[in-house]
Amino acid sequence: MELHVLQHPLIEHKLTVLRDKNTPSNTFRELTSELVMLEAYEATRNLDIVDAPIETPVSPMVGKKLAKPRPMVVPVLRAGLGMLDGMTRLLPTAEVGFLGMKRDENTLDIVTYANRLPEDLSGRQCFLLDPMLATGGTLIAATNYLAERGAKDVTSINILAAPEGLERLKQEMDPKINLKVVVCAVDEKLNEHAYIVPGLGDAGDRLYGVI
Ligand code: URA
Repeated sequence: MELHVLQHPLIEHKLTVLRDKNTPSNTFRELTSELVMLEAYEATRNLDIVDAPIETPVSPMVGKKLAKPRPMVVPVLRAGLGMLDGMTRLLPTAEVGFLGMKRDENTLDIVTYANRLPEDLSGRQCFLLDPMLATGGTLIAATNYLAERGAKDVTSINILAAPEGLERLKQEMDPKINLKVVVCAVDEKLNEHAYIVPGLGDAGDRLYGVI
């Protein structure tokens, strides 16, 4: 697992406004989009490209274009949906699949309750979107899910991460799976309800105006 914690004044500013409990949902959604676009610049650094012969108004040249198969963007429901718009603005040719995952309250296992993805992801470069990397359970399950279907590599784009979740990824992820994690910040800890501290609260609730 390769971790990228982005450091940039714009990210720090936007993240601080995002965290503020007085920031309303419409601003929260706008800032989430903007942060994802900034993260996507780093997250897509290793996208495969191929030579593309074109003609400019002045002369022929060989440029570069994104290779096939198209990258796959996968928001994890519900909160990951708030990151989709920013990602597809930067990567408009990507295919979008959906993954709904939640914790079974009895077994504490992560169960997949919705899946709109091709069965065969051979050779695909996949981007998981989920604002909060808290315990790491969802990310491990989602990455395994994509890898089992043949994904070439997986990049997880999260706004915030907890050290506990990152440690769990290091311990539990199969090192043969090519996973990169891009975050705006690593916070202090998880609290007893598995919320990130200081964090930003429940990302889904804040995106969709539940509070
Ligand atoms: N999910 C959230 O929405 N917030 C947290 O702090 C942790 C998980």
